[in-house]
Amino acid sequence: MNEKTQVGIIGAGPAGLLLSHLLHLQGIDSVILEARSRKYVEDRVRAGVLEQGTVDLLCDTGLGDRLRREGLVHQGIELRFDGRSHRIALSDLTGGRSIWIYGQREVVKDLIDARLEANGSILFEVDDVKLSGIDSSSPVLNYQKDGRDYELNCDFIAGCDGFHGVSRKSIPAGVLRTYHHVYPFGWLGILVAVPPSTEELIYAYHERGFALHSLRSPEISRLYLQVEPGEDSNNWPDDRIWQELSIRMATDDGWTLKTGPILEKGITPMQSFVVEPMQYGSLFLAGDAAHIVPATGAKGLNLAVHDVHKLAEALIAWFSRGTEELLKQYSANCLDRVWRVQDFSSFMSLMLHRYFDDDGFRGRLQRAQLKYVCSSDAASRSLAENYVGLPHV
Ligand code: FAD
Ligand code: PHB
Repeated sequence: MNEKTQVGIIGAGPAGLLLSHLLHLQGIDSVILEARSRKYVEDRVRAGVLEQGTVDLLCDTGLGDRLRREGLVHQGIELRFDGRSHRIALSDLTGGRSIWIYGQREVVKDLIDARLEANGSILFEVDDVKLSGIDSSSPVLNYQKDGRDYELNCDFIAGCDGFHGVSRKSIPAGVLRTYHHVYPFGWLGILVAVPPSTEELIYAYHERGFALHSLRSPEISRLYLQVEPGEDSNNWPDDRIWQELSIRMATDDGWTLKTGPILEKGITPMQSFVVEPMQYGSLFLAGDAAHIVPATGAKGLNLAVHDVHKLAEALIAWFSRGTEELLKQYSANCLDRVWRVQDFSSFMSLMLHRYFDDDGFRGRLQRAQLKYVCSSDAASRSLAENYVGLPHV
């Protein structure tokens, strides 16, 4: 079966869904092809921290109703080490900007609802997506659904299919330059049915490894522990997780960690990955398909949102005015922010994780850096402006 659309989008994660929404607002047609089911996509536990710029974009484009009602505005974070907490006053240090706690699940649900309400086309559970003609102005997506073959003719293809997707791999060998760094640690993350033991996120540095206390709502906590990169979550029964979290987050003034039933448990590797350029012919890569950042900076989702904001602007300029300039600049415009965010995420990761092969030198540097960040106005301001996110330009 043959179909036609202006922009064929692969992947119904935050990048693909938001791109489709932004294009729709300007009357541009798109079709999203997603390998997984709607339920799987909506239930996947991922990011929780939205930058101010992400929230502004969602609200400005009609996606802010539930976000404004249920999102939690945070004006600071805590850095905890040597048994003491130090507050980084994000809003005071950035002229009033803040971060919002609103799970990626919720962002994805809001986007799917908005697209379907507007009769947008999202095809879930498609198989075997193949790209062809991406070096021409009439690229094609072939795929299967319910055992039947389909062909989707497009003007452009947006590869929003995450790190393991098919788009990036469809670009001929030798075109992309790849940068990949794997950090010698991973995160064990848990989602817990217990009110958070803190009002603001706590990033804890400890001899036994990093720990993070985040949250999803006044009833649901999200916590992470540094573990070995290839760790098996079966080695972490609930008791061991709670014991380790309590030790790593302990303070001298007797702060206590509330425990509760663990709803979800998973291991995430920590890596930095970038491909350059983020475009080949009529294929544009966005979000995790083009780059991965270590989660310590809370930036992956926000970066995906920035990419598709730029891509939507460029496609709108092309379809409405026939201008190619922004499409040509897309990759360079995105990569500037990608590398700024890689640098910040790497800075946070190197400062906060224990290196288990450390002979003591690295640990001394980390303490010196933590003390500096917590005591110098210039250093804490720099952390704060990166954490809340630089404005979209
Ligand atoms: P994805 O969300 O990966 O979406 C890609 C979609 O494409 C998926 O639905 C997938 O099923 C689909 N797909 C893949 N292959 C195909 C195919 N061949 N055909 C069709 N469909 C396909 N970021 C933050 O900003 N803040 C945080 O606090 C944060 N915390 C995180 C915590 C963890 C534990 C993890 C793992 C990530 C975190 N991130 C965070 C990162 C963030 O979740 C990702 O950067 C974000 O999901 C990227 O969105 P995306 O749309 O580019 O890709
Ligand atoms: C989360 O809430 O999932 C989260 C928060 C901060 C991070 C990473 C993940 O740096």
